[in-house]
Amino acid sequence: MIVEQNISLKKYNTFGIEAKALRLVRLNSEEDLLAVLRDPELAAAPKFILGGGSNIVITADVKPVVLKVEMLGKRLVSEDEKAWVVEAYAGENWHEFVRWTLDNGWPGLENLAMIPGSVGATPVQNIGAYGVELQDRFESLDAINLQTSEHMRLEALHCAFGYRDSVFKHGPDQRMGASSSMGLAGRALITRVRFRLPKAWRAETGYTDIHKRVVESGLTQPSAMQIFDMVCSIRKAKLPQPELVGNAGSFFKNPTVTADQCADIIAREPKLVHYQLSNGEFKLAAAWLIDACGWKGKSVGHAGVYEKQALILINKGGPSRPCTGGEVVTLAQAIQTSVYERFGIRLEIEPVVV
Ligand code: EPU
Repeated sequence: MIVEQNISLKKYNTFGIEAKALRLVRLNSEEDLLAVLRDPELAAAPKFILGGGSNIVITADVKPVVLKVEMLGKRLVSEDEKAWVVEAYAGENWHEFVRWTLDNGWPGLENLAMIPGSVGATPVQNIGAYGVELQDRFESLDAINLQTSEHMRLEALHCAFGYRDSVFKHGPDQRMGASSSMGLAGRALITRVRFRLPKAWRAETGYTDIHKRVVESGLTQPSAMQIFDMVCSIRKAKLPQPELVGNAGSFFKNPTVTADQCADIIAREPKLVHYQLSNGEFKLAAAWLIDACGWKGKSVGHAGVYEKQALILINKGGPSRPCTGGEVVTLAQAIQTSVYERFGIRLEIEPVVV
């Protein structure tokens, strides 16, 4: 086991923020992690788990020991008449994993193409796009308890998935919703994730952007690979590619309001973009709220709001002076304030601020 010191994290976070890890250990296997946990000093030290770095904003040098998850491997675990179950180690690149499943003829993850980051991070925020969430295809995951070194197998119920939420986003002192499991943030490191891909596959084309593409293409029954291509092309057109423009995806969650609150806002703001949920509440498009407050294209220092999608904050600095985490957080707070003042809605930040 090698403990690297004063390592730049710039290329390990998709925002491209410059900050150092005071100590960093690369985990290429579960055994590497168990070695860290056997070391008395490292075992006792606070730890920060780093996957693809696509959902974090780093505001200072990272003092906890950074555990950089680089475990690789993927396989078909089982197949029966109903479904394929596939598994990937946490360090695999998510998009490449999605492509690999499709290349093998196992559809189901195509709507989640091109989401930046690693497989291990996908359950943490229950990634979602174009009408599909990770929890819809989730089978189970393996994790290692950072305090006891015990291996854990978690099924969906234990993960307490919610909208961009799971048991891995909450501390040990927080009880989680329906399953009443305890928060696992900082307590467990995900090593492998398994997905159930039903053979009774149907293209998921309900989301407006996809629906439009399907109609334009004239395809009556698009294949999973065709949906994959459509998702890639929509994302390329709308979202900045982190290799070119630093960002952490959607910066705020889409807020949920009651029917009364929604009607109240519409009375004042008739163009409000809203969607009814199955429980009668309404989800509002945070991008629309931010856009309506005039934030598109605006900046604080070297942090800015993306011109083509107001929900994305971007790094507008060059290689010699990238934006800082502080600038991103200041911009985010200014956006939260103006959305609150105009609509009475508190936007919740989606990425993890370190
Ligand atoms: N809109 C605006 N201004 C904008 C952009 C959008 O008014 O600048 C309005 C439009 O009316 C649009 C609506 O907002 O129809 C929703 O926008 P979009 O379809 O782009 O989706 P989103 O709600 O902004 C969510 C996810 C994305 C995911 C897309 C597609 C969240 C926080 N974000 O964005 O996920 O890719 O839907 O499914 O739920 C991510 O989580 O990092 C992410 C990129």
